[in-house]
Formats: sequence, C-alpha cells, structure tokens
Amino acid sequence: MICAVVTALLLASATQVVTADVNHCPSGWTFSTNTSFCYIQSPQYMTYAEADPFCQSIGGSQVFIFTSRELTWLTDFTSSSLVPPWLATTRNTSTGKWYNSDNTTPLLSYWSIGEPGINGDCATFKGTSSPGLKATQCYSMQPALCKQMPALCPTQTNYGGSSSRSGTIQSPGYPTQYYNNLNCLYTITSPPNTYITMLFSPYVVEDYFDYINVYDGPNATYPYLGTTDDGYWLRDDFESSNNSVSFKFITDKIITDKGWLLTWNAKSNTPPIKQTGQNGSFTSPNYPNNYDPYTEQLYYITAPVGFQVNVTITDFVLEQNYDVLEVYNASYVSASTLIANLTGPSVAPWSWLSPSRYVTMRFKSDAIVQKKGFSLFWIIQ
Ligand SMILES: *[C@@H]1O[C@H](CO)[C@@H](O)[C@H](O)[C@H]1NC(C)=O
Ligand SMILES: *[C@@H]1O[C@H](CO)[C@@H](O)[C@H](O)[C@H]1NC(C)=O
Ligand SMILES: *[C@@H]1O[C@H](CO)[C@@H](O)[C@H](O)[C@H]1NC(C)=O
Ligand SMILES: *[C@@H]1O[C@H](CO)[C@@H](O)[C@H](O)[C@H]1NC(C)=O
Ligand SMILES: *[C@@H]1O[C@H](CO)[C@@H](O)[C@H](O)[C@H]1NC(C)=O
Ligand SMILES: *[C@@H]1O[C@H](CO)[C@@H](O)[C@H](O)[C@H]1NC(C)=O
Ligand SMILES: *[C@@H]1O[C@H](CO)[C@@H](O)[C@H](O)[C@H]1NC(C)=O
Ligand SMILES: *[C@@H]1O[C@H](CO)[C@@H](O)[C@H](O)[C@H]1NC(C)=O
Repeated sequence: MICAVVTALLLASATQVVTADVNHCPSGWTFSTNTSFCYIQSPQYMTYAEADPFCQSIGGSQVFIFTSRELTWLTDFTSSSLVPPWLATTRNTSTGKWYNSDNTTPLLSYWSIGEPGINGDCATFKGTSSPGLKATQCYSMQPALCKQMPALCPTQTNYGGSSSRSGTIQSPGYPTQYYNNLNCLYTITSPPNTYITMLFSPYVVEDYFDYINVYDGPNATYPYLGTTDDGYWLRDDFESSNNSVSFKFITDKIITDKGWLLTWNAKSNTPPIKQTGQNGSFTSPNYPNNYDPYTEQLYYITAPVGFQVNVTITDFVLEQNYDVLEVYNASYVSASTLIANLTGPSVAPWSWLSPSRYVTMRFKSDAIVQKKGFSLFWIIQ
C-alpha cells in the first residue's frame, strides 16, 4: 500500500495551482499560490544576524528553501530585487557543512552553479541565471526575506446550533483547490437528544498525506471516531454518539486537490419502541400533532410463539415520497425483509398479517414538510 501511496503521489504530480487570494496574507505580504505561504522582502539591508530578528518582529521567520517549488517561486518573487536577500542557511565553520535553521541540510540542487563558494558562511538567494543558494559573507548588507503561514482555515469554526438539523461545510477553496499546511478544526452542534451523521462527498483529497480526523465531541480532546484515510481504506461517513462532533482537516506541505463537501444531518436519538403480548398500538411521534423533521423511530412487535401479528393502520398522513413507514417481515431491519414502504395521504385503512411472530417498522421523516403521521394497532391471531 505504501507503494500505491507513493505512486499516487507521483501521478498526482505537483502541477496543481492554488487559487490566489491576497486576503490570506497581512498587508504588504504576498501569498504564493505555489507554496501556500506569505512572503515579504525588506526594503532595508542588514547583516545576516539581523535578518531573523527582523522577520520575527513582523510576525514571520526567515525563509530557507524547502522544496524545488519554493525555489521556483522565490526566483519569480525576487526577480526585481537588485541585491540577493538572506536565507536562513549557514555553514557550520567547524565541520564545513551547511544547515538550514531547522537543522536540515539544503539539497545540492538548491545551490546556484559553482556554489557553495568558499567566501562566506551565510547564504543568500541568487535569483537570476542559475537561481539558488549562494555563499555570502555574514557581515554583508542584504535584504531580509521572511515568510509566515497565512490564515487559511475558515474564520468560522462552529457550525449548526441548538435548532439546526442539517448543513453543509466545504474545504477552504472548494471546489477549486484546498491549501497546503492546514490544520483546521471544525465543530458541529445539533439539538439536544440528537446525534449527527456526516458524509464527505465528494472527497477529492491527496491520498494518505492529507486527511480528516473525526472526534466524538466538540473538540479533539474527545474520543477519536476515525479518519478518512488510514493509508489502506478511504472512509467517507461518520456518526457521533451525541449532539456534537468535531473534525480536523490536516494537509501536508505539498500537493493539493479539489477538496471535500460535507453534508451533515441530526438524527433523533430516540430509543426503539418494543411491544410484546397479545395486542398493542402505537403512533408516530407527537401524533396527532405533526411529527418533527429528521425523525427516525423504530418499532418492534414480538408475538408469543405460535401466533402471527395482524397490523392495522387506522390513520395515515405522511409527506408523499419523502417521509415513510417501512414494514419488515422480521425482527430486524433489512432490505430483504421489507414488505411495505408506506407513504402519502391515502394508505389507511391498511391491514397486514405477518406470516411470522415478528414485525419491525421504521418511521423516517426528512428535513421539510411535516404531517400528522399515523396511528395503528396490532393483535395476535
Ligand atoms: C507555480 O507552479 C506552476 C506549476 O508547477 C508553475 O507553472 C509556475 O511557474 C509556478 N509559479 C511560480 C511563480 O513559481
Ligand atoms: C557545528 O558542528 C559541531 C559538530 O557536529 C557541533 O558540535 C557544533 O555545535 C556545531 N556548531 C553550530 C554553531 O551549530
Ligand atoms: C474541549 O471542549 C470542552 C467542552 O466544551 C472544553 O471544556 C475544553 O476546554 C475543550 N478543550 C480544548 C482543548 O479546546
Ligand atoms: C450529550 O450532550 C449533552 C449536552 O448537549 C450532555 O448533557 C450529555 O451528558 C451528553 N451525553 C452523553 C452520553 O455524553
Ligand atoms: C389486549 O391484551 C390484553 C392483555 O394484555 C387483554 O386484556 C385484552 O383483552 C386484549 N384486547 C383484545 C382486543 O384482544
Ligand atoms: C386483521 O385485522 C383486521 C382488523 O381487525 C381485519 O379486518 C383483518 O381481516 C385481519 N386480517 C386477517 C388476515 O385476519
Ligand atoms: C421507500 O419509498 C421512498 C419513496 O416513496 C423511497 O425514497 C425509499 O427509498 C423507499 N425505501 C425503501 C427501503 O425501499
Ligand atoms: C416472511 O418471513 C417468513 C419467515 O422468514 C417467510 O416464510 C415469508 O415468506 C416471508 N413473507 C414475506 C411476504 O416476505
């Protein structure tokens, strides 16, 4: 599977471009569609030692090159600069080796031709012919080159509410392109006594390296419900146990795709109604008043051994085609035991004798148009 992941990674290639949105960066900074970072080059010149403190004073940090894609971007970004800016890459004078500020080593291919030269233990970015790193004396006066992570997660993090039963959420930039380097938290809340079902569809996200983790409560300290992509399986549906759920959309530093659209629904957390004995009756919730949207109510009837169940519906008014009462010839819900799928205003009177001693029924309503519902009784024979 790791092979498959790597292959997918190569096939996806790095050809996708994020839609530019200048508003993601603070004023004066430039958003790179290719790296998803904000960049700025200082107008003033300074020594190497002054460059990182300068960047930090304006909310960023000094740039070093972490991908060839960034190198291409920097070539473009610094093309009008007369003096090459500092990069956060220095030579360890006792070992002679070069390190970025995070202790990684710059790739050989990131150096300009003939570099690193022997003159200088600090690196600047040479933008013209053969772009790349260039060894420079650390006391030399050059511009600072800074970058910072833009505010790419949505500013809205809370969705739903105590009277919301459904909604949709989409990834930043959907359906064009989401961004790299994301770690965005989303929280959904639904009315009391409901639980939340979630479906991520479409879900067009880089395999394995970008994913969504889902938690059974308002933030990531609650129990982990699963992930959309564990490297083996893709999963697009999740269900909370209570009336809030949260998830994190996490993306790595390269390759993005169209993103995802989440549709969520609140379902009534009502326990099934179970009846046994010789006879009984039940109604839809709230009957004879209208049932609620997104109701899902199960009814189980069990007759004594040797008897059958005769079900008679005396009143029945449901939204045609969208709200239904399903009748199952079994002690459980299953497509193979469905014997009637009742809907609309003209079902009653309706009567049916179960060939076995079990009847299961399920009432379901959708988001819109609520009706009076139904009333029925049953008797053994
Ligand atoms: C951004 O990436 C695209 C595709 O890889 C490339 O064609 C383009 O030249 C890059 N632009 C910059 C400014 O790096
Ligand atoms: C240079 O490398 C040596 C040996 O690895 C290490 O002990 C030293 O701390 C390094 N110097 C700097 C300034 O990082
Ligand atoms: C998680 O949510 C709970 C309940 O709302 C809250 O008490 C807690 O502080 C939150 N934790 C974090 C890390 O946000
Ligand atoms: C479900 O959430 C409610 C708050 O809306 C809380 O009072 C209740 O304890 C939770 N139930 C469970 C089983 O966690
Ligand atoms: C319904 O069952 C009860 C016992 O649970 C019984 O007393 C009553 O006569 C039954 N009604 C009919 C109509 O069979
Ligand atoms: C089921 O009960 C209804 C109402 O009591 C009755 O009209 C119908 O004939 C019964 N069905 C069977 C098959 O006995
Ligand atoms: C029941 O009927 C409705 C439309 O009337 C349909 O949407 C639904 O899929 C049916 N359910 C089953 C289980 O066949
Ligand atoms: C109902 O279930 C019984 C027992 O499984 C079976 O014999 C019978 O054929 C079923 N009837 C219908 C209408 O599905």
